[in-house]
Amino acid sequence: MSKVKKELLKTARGTRDIWGDEILIWDKIRTVAEELAKFYGFKKIETPHFEHAELFGASLGETTDIVEKQMYIFRTRGGDSLVLRPEGTVPSVRAYFENGMASLPQPVMLYYSGSFFRHESPQKGRFREFGQFGLEILGEDLAVADATVIRIAGLIFKELGLETVLELNTIGDKECRPAYRRELVIYYRKHFNYLCKDCKRRLKENPLRLVDCKEESCLNLKKNAPQMIEYVCDECKNHFKDVLDFMDALEISYRLNPHLVRGLDYYTRTVFEFAVDATEQDRPASPDARSDSETRQASQGRRVELGGGGRYDYLAQILASKDLPAVGVSLGIDRIAELLKERGGNFSGEAAKVFLIQLGEAAKKKSLKLLEEFRKAGIPLAQSLSKDSIRGQLKIAAKLGASYSLIIGQKEAMDGTIIIRDMDSGSQEALPVGKVIERIKLKVKMR
Ligand code: HAM
Repeated sequence: MSKVKKELLKTARGTRDIWGDEILIWDKIRTVAEELAKFYGFKKIETPHFEHAELFGASLGETTDIVEKQMYIFRTRGGDSLVLRPEGTVPSVRAYFENGMASLPQPVMLYYSGSFFRHESPQKGRFREFGQFGLEILGEDLAVADATVIRIAGLIFKELGLETVLELNTIGDKECRPAYRRELVIYYRKHFNYLCKDCKRRLKENPLRLVDCKEESCLNLKKNAPQMIEYVCDECKNHFKDVLDFMDALEISYRLNPHLVRGLDYYTRTVFEFAVDATEQDRPASPDARSDSETRQASQGRRVELGGGGRYDYLAQILASKDLPAVGVSLGIDRIAELLKERGGNFSGEAAKVFLIQLGEAAKKKSLKLLEEFRKAGIPLAQSLSKDSIRGQLKIAAKLGASYSLIIGQKEAMDGTIIIRDMDSGSQEALPVGKVIERIKLKVKMR
């Protein structure tokens, strides 16, 4: 009898194995994103998967969904309170100060790619462990930084063949946001009875979150709610205008969404999201399952949020009592991968054109040596070293679509030769093994 219970052979709720074709898609997304980030001068950072629990809290906002209900907090044997990182911006700022990055030329431009953890209700496109690719520009207050992260995120989607909608808004700063908050409170107090249970509570603690609520009654109230853009101060207005000028100069199309506030409290000024309008099958399994920002009942229908970000000029004040204007974006790898999978396509890269067939022990040994020579020469060489029969190996070569097979039998192993078989015509030629790489290079080139 098995000693392990059947349920233990299943991944924990909200997590899954990523393998086979799916991991090829993930690799493709990460490669495209990394190449673009590196080209634009971003340097990679890997921060720990867990941090001190107190790091997130005031930084993300005590009344945000993440801090209120989604953090995986645990106590160590030594009594420390730690948390599995729910996002990558706060750790990046922590790392900036801890590693003395202030003494480097500014701004410091970082990118990261990895797993993040939120205790959410799992459904399509929403997991408890999920992948994000993120860019952060730390130490720059000019709009060119906002434009740079938006631009690169847009290029990543474009390179992957995804048509996204970019929504933009400004949520002001500590000078102008209080007046907007006051107006929001006045407006929503008048309609208090129509608010959902959560929003009744939020009205006291964090009225800005009311415009982000997806409950039907709150959505209706939002239509006539005051809009931040009417309250922004001149500096915020100018900054936003500069961002929009960059969008025009770079021919990046966008939609202004005056109600976009995002689900984290550290934002100031520019906020933005990239989304796709979802098809019927993309819809979350249960529309009322919860209310965070990734799927939104916008006027144009259901949308799936693939990435988002914004400026966070006060986060360093909260974490380190320092001034550090900054802006960033994170993309949700799971959701991008799901979309690409649904659309089909080949992500396996270039298939090997050459297949190595070996017959007998001596030939197997020669094969291992030859494989390494092909690797060094940069020619992909497929093989099935565990197989013994020529028929079986030829079958695999044909299945893989190889143009040529290289055959080393007992005789060839003894006299240092090899046979090249053209898989289309079936014609064969024997030659010294030392010449095979050169010959194959020529053949592949001529095809
Ligand atoms: P966020 O909006 O919380 O922002 O997450 C960014 C993206 O991660 C979302 O647009 C979504 O695609 C993906 N995502 C979030 N939660 C899940 C989940 N449970 N399952 C699958 N995908 C998910 C941030 O995290 C900010 N740190 C972004 C940022 C960077 N702001 C400035 N710099």
